Amino acid sequence: MNGKAGSSERNVLFESRLFEVVSILWTNKSTTPLHDHGGSQCFVLVLEGKFENVLDFGNKREVSTFESGQTFSIPVGTKHETQCLTLTGKTLHVYTPKLAQETVKLKFNSENSEELKNKLHLSQATPFEELKDLLDVMKKESISSGSPYFMNQLFSGSFPQMLMAEEFIAATKTTLATFEASPVLSAVENEVIEELSCLIGWEKRSGIAVPGGSAANFMAVHCARQNLFPKTKREGLDGRNLCVFVSAEAHYSFKKACAVLGLGMDNVISVPVDHKGRMKPEALDGLIQKVRDQSKVPLMVSATFGTTVLGAFDQVDELSRICKKHKIWLHVDGAWGGPALFSKKLRHLACGIENADSMTFDAHKLLGANLTSSFFLTKHPQILLEANDVADGDYLFHSDDPALDRGKLSWQCGRKAEAMSFWTIWKSMGTEGIGEFIDGLIGLRDEITAWIKMHPRLELIHMPDYLNVCVRVLSLDGAKDPEWSKIVRERLKEKNLVFVNYSSDTNGTFLRLILANPFLNFSHLEQILRWALEET
Ligand SMILES: Cc1ncc(COP(=O)(O)O)c(C=O)c1O
Repeated sequence: MNGKAGSSERNVLFESRLFEVVSILWTNKSTTPLHDHGGSQCFVLVLEGKFENVLDFGNKREVSTFESGQTFSIPVGTKHETQCLTLTGKTLHVYTPKLAQETVKLKFNSENSEELKNKLHLSQATPFEELKDLLDVMKKESISSGSPYFMNQLFSGSFPQMLMAEEFIAATKTTLATFEASPVLSAVENEVIEELSCLIGWEKRSGIAVPGGSAANFMAVHCARQNLFPKTKREGLDGRNLCVFVSAEAHYSFKKACAVLGLGMDNVISVPVDHKGRMKPEALDGLIQKVRDQSKVPLMVSATFGTTVLGAFDQVDELSRICKKHKIWLHVDGAWGGPALFSKKLRHLACGIENADSMTFDAHKLLGANLTSSFFLTKHPQILLEANDVADGDYLFHSDDPALDRGKLSWQCGRKAEAMSFWTIWKSMGTEGIGEFIDGLIGLRDEITAWIKMHPRLELIHMPDYLNVCVRVLSLDGAKDPEWSKIVRERLKEKNLVFVNYSSDTNGTFLRLILANPFLNFSHLEQILRWALEET
């Protein structure tokens, strides 16, 4: 891919049967010749500089510019040329021959269940060559969560750097229990925790990578319990009711945590929310008092940063004042909304976050890391050791420094390198680059909400603060069928067009669009809604 003027240097970073990741260094005005990628889909992430990309559809040309942190994709079979507009530039390209658009699968064909089960049967050895083919077949049957039309969860797609990280993890297979077995990956985990804590604004800090946001929320309840009742670690719970306060829109993992940790899920107190889905501070204050009056113990408040359905941000500043008054541990569940800390457009939502005692952060949702890449972060440097170390395992832990042997801060023994794929993405995009990526999605959100508001058959459920766009589809005859959005969702999945989730309010069901895919653009969003409107 030599430039017309200037030059470009192409480096293949990762190659496999499914993907190829290439980095390109550009000089001013260097331009690719007009080309397509055969049957491959090509995704481009701009790491540095500004670029003009021309898509040539034969009968029309579409010109767009992209800056650092932005992404674009070249549809299969479409010709394009790209030019660097700045003195130097850097881009990362992922070519996915096997994931080209025609193979996108958003619906599992249950008629294939029996055949699949037979293929997976383990009794007989399969020769290596056949195994590779079998994996290809299995891949084809899997749901294409990398497609911009996959929005069923709070993740969609990933940054290509993630693949390099996963290859690294597999090649250096190790456990994050001790420093001597994982010096590099322990340092990686430390670095991610340090930098996330800096973004929060904590001077003192500690943290641990955990398998998922739910696990981080478990750790929060566990640490709050250790903080208030350290003796429980040895002696067990003493029959007191320890209460955890969450908003009515909070994630169910707190109920699970209280069930598993022996606190009892009835001791999770649901606090009412306002019209935006945010916990009402005065209601929290009242409920804490009520619990005290019943001789129960308020243990922890968890504010949600980005609720699962509406993407609401609880007001940490106000909640922290209440927690301070009542001397209660304040946790922030930022599994979905935590990345707002990187964004210039969203940072105001995190006002007062430095007052929180702990936080959950997932990089596998919005930030395109592989599942799972989650962190429990706290400003109490000793609490993880106090809560999790059992002064045992001498056969394994030979160092006196728990900061090095990170397994002591965890309830796990073998630990996967959860931080690695996020570190790789962060390292290549920089803190600002990640912020720009999120701000780009916010721009998309503004465009699509404006579009929805103009449409007579679409009802925007609320003006989103974050990247959840909740929209009710009204049927063509105008009759208010409360189930209509759910029916539309099922039909779009059945047709293998879109895999989007739904929820409901008092007026019926609505679609929940999640803006998370690094290669999502306005046309995808518009297309999803047009398809939804075509259903009658
Ligand atoms: C607000 C919130 N917290 C926690 C979780 C759990 O995260 P994970 O799926 O990583 O366990 C979710 C999952 O969607 C969530 O939306």
